[in-house]
Amino acid sequence: MLNASWIQPSYKLSRVCPLFKKDFSVNKQVDSAVLYITARGVYEATLNSQRIGDFIMAPGWTAYHKRLQVQAYDVTSLLKKDNTLTLHLAEGWFWRLKKRQPKAIIAELRIKYADGTSESIGTDKSWRVAKSNLRFCHLYNGIKYDASYIPSFRYSAVIAKDNSQDLLIPQQGETVKEQERLTVKEIITTPKGETVLDFGQNLTGYLEFTVKAKKGDKVSFSFAEILDKDGNFYNKNYRKAKALYKYTCKDGLQTYKPNLTFYGFRYVRIDSYPADIESQNFTAIVVHSEMKRTGYIESSDPALNQLFNNIIWGQKGNFLDIPTDCPQRDERLGWTGDAQVFIRTASYNYDVLKFFKKWLNDMKAEQEENGAVPDFVPSIYPHKHRVSTAWSDAIAICPWQCYLTYGDTEILESIFESVCKWAQYIANKTTKPNLWTGGDHYADWLELGGKYGAFKGPTRDDIVASAYYANTVNLIVKMGKVLGKDVSGYQELHKNIRSAFIAEYKDDFQTQTEHIMALQFELTDNPQAVADSLAELIHRQGDMLQTGFVGTPYILHVLSKYGYSELAYTLLLRKEYPSWLYPISKGATTIWEHWDGIKPNGDIWPAAMNSYNHYAYGAVGDWMYGVIAGINTVEEAPGFKRVHFAPTPDERIDWFKAEIDTAFGKVSSRWWHENGRVHYELITPTDATAIIDGKAYELSPGKHIF
Ligand code: BGC
Repeated sequence: MLNASWIQPSYKLSRVCPLFKKDFSVNKQVDSAVLYITARGVYEATLNSQRIGDFIMAPGWTAYHKRLQVQAYDVTSLLKKDNTLTLHLAEGWFWRLKKRQPKAIIAELRIKYADGTSESIGTDKSWRVAKSNLRFCHLYNGIKYDASYIPSFRYSAVIAKDNSQDLLIPQQGETVKEQERLTVKEIITTPKGETVLDFGQNLTGYLEFTVKAKKGDKVSFSFAEILDKDGNFYNKNYRKAKALYKYTCKDGLQTYKPNLTFYGFRYVRIDSYPADIESQNFTAIVVHSEMKRTGYIESSDPALNQLFNNIIWGQKGNFLDIPTDCPQRDERLGWTGDAQVFIRTASYNYDVLKFFKKWLNDMKAEQEENGAVPDFVPSIYPHKHRVSTAWSDAIAICPWQCYLTYGDTEILESIFESVCKWAQYIANKTTKPNLWTGGDHYADWLELGGKYGAFKGPTRDDIVASAYYANTVNLIVKMGKVLGKDVSGYQELHKNIRSAFIAEYKDDFQTQTEHIMALQFELTDNPQAVADSLAELIHRQGDMLQTGFVGTPYILHVLSKYGYSELAYTLLLRKEYPSWLYPISKGATTIWEHWDGIKPNGDIWPAAMNSYNHYAYGAVGDWMYGVIAGINTVEEAPGFKRVHFAPTPDERIDWFKAEIDTAFGKVSSRWWHENGRVHYELITPTDATAIIDGKAYELSPGKHIF
């Protein structure tokens, strides 16, 4: 409980961001000083003009109507005798919430003195408020900043109508920070005559600029992920997100960055600027959640290396406090389906355990009484959620993957009952027992083979929904066993779902994804025949994948599992549309939402839904780690307590190398072709098993060459 009140300006909140201020003196020797703070909105706090902490977009995004994180910052070293504490407040994600309170802030500074006494300075009516230089700040629409304006603290603060602290929780997630600074790669003059900065990388964050100017001079930028086929600036795909950046100068040299919002961009069009454009005056600042990099992949194939790089950048760009679909258009939501398909790759690339634990707690908080799990988390609707197979199933898949990669059982313990409730929801909703039929789903979202511009293809929703239902119940069984629970009822249920699935669909699958569902979730008695049929279908379709969000992450896995590694490689290495490498031939530096976000003739996918930074198809990363390099977790000894190696080389790649930093140390797998033979080097920090050229080995910790 904070010894403080929620405060707002006494004037009616306009679009101008409020700046709150408190002056105070410290007359004794200080032992420690900690600021506890959160906001209905996002904040930036300073003490004596020094920024407090480096958390960008604090307090982050949680299920705001259920939980709100409080941050604690040690500010001892910033204290002086006479002090000014300021709190800058903007809307951030809070604005997305339907039926919300007006934005407000609460903070308490606790000072402990050397003489054993203490003092607390909390937000209350005594704080002063000014309209700040930030005249406008919006999650999607960007900022307007007037540096020439001199804020005057002429307003008082009032206590917010809802002054309760019931929803406050300590910080759970990773903090979001400025992570990298990129310089301008090229200054382009487009055919239309626009001046455009190219940072050479699609990224999430903001632009910092420096300029020497006169008071009243204007600086203004626009943002884009791509140029159109003529080389002109293009950002219609941001939809309603205006992503403004309008700055009015003061006199002299000045540097600015808008750090209470963020942008997704590679290109910056300079719409007005009162000086010569010199690249050293512009920096792109990459912002994402703290996560330790753990996974690396490198090979002799430059296109594959670029693909892996794009996967990494897709993760950096969309792990900004929550896992989002995309960072640029008027969406940026924690779509559960996108996160579940990508989580295995994500968890190898970076340590994302803390990041996902916090988000899964929000998912739990958002789950409805009847078990419904929303399609995106945090939800923005208090009680009106859409559910979908493969999206809502994230509640089972994400914690299970965290268990496999990190060996964390706490996450299973905490989510288990919620997963059971979700399975019960399905049982209550289905029109046919032991399947999930009759629902309205995203299912194999963006699958090919539908009408032009359609979001869905021919895969039957009921097959996807029933298959994911089987998987979720199977995961309940696995989780329950780890936790020592009696799961015999779920084992029985899983058996029944499997039999019902086989009886209903009779191995008669029409699309790639329908085959993949049966194979991946073991819902056929004739897996080899189904795999043969899948391979044949792929050949008939010109050795091209046709899959969307749910088929894509598994297609290569089921092919390689049933003897079609060569075909899996063919799909992976294909450079023409549709394929993972096609976007690279079009200069992609992140993963695209659509296989053909830019078409072979240069046309652009309809702007209504077209992101160039959507990590979902980056899920292929886990096939690169798990099959090409062959680094695998072992279910009975999770968190890489044991390792299972099963590398699968292919002649079209000269050498390949992957590495994962685990809690036990580095796991690495490398193979290369030499004198007509394949050589392998495996490094394991723990006991391991390996399958090399069909032969099984037991490995002790250390390096092994084959
Ligand atoms: C998002 C997707 C999301 C989908 C749900 C889209 O607008 O960008 O990635 O999963 O909606 O179908």
